[in-house]
Amino acid sequence: MTLSVLIVCLGNICRSPMGEAVLKHEAEKRGIIIKVDSAGTGAYHLGNDPDERTVKTCKEHDVPINHSARQVQQSDFKDFQYILAADESNLRNLEAIRPRSATAQLRLWGSYLDNKPIPDPYYGGITGFQRCFEQCTNLSNAFLDEVVGK
Ligand code: 4NP
Repeated sequence: MTLSVLIVCLGNICRSPMGEAVLKHEAEKRGIIIKVDSAGTGAYHLGNDPDERTVKTCKEHDVPINHSARQVQQSDFKDFQYILAADESNLRNLEAIRPRSATAQLRLWGSYLDNKPIPDPYYGGITGFQRCFEQCTNLSNAFLDEVVGK
């Protein structure tokens, strides 16, 4: 079965679309076939492109990014093997809507490395997005090391 991962944050315009793009990129570098998508627990930005600072940061690192914001839905809990939350608040919101029939493993993305959340960069400057990119890269590699192997 193809490895499938859903990255989740609040708005699905800053952290999780970046996480989606970076995880895809890191997996491809390893020759791993993977399905990655992202979603938000909130519905503030449905259909929007990723934040321009997320796009700029990905472009600076030659990581392709292409996503339309969407909200997490019940079917995601069986359509993905892993659902990875950017922070504890996202994780709690996901636990609250997880259906009984869920088969996905629901975890804080940081649990694969250092248990740290990805801070929300939305209200800050570009530096927060650059830090977010670095964190997404480290978390992608920690996740792939554990789930696929080094
Ligand atoms: P994200 O950042 O969860 O990383 O996409 C946010 C973007 C927008 C909002 C909150 C967080 N907002 O409240 O509009």
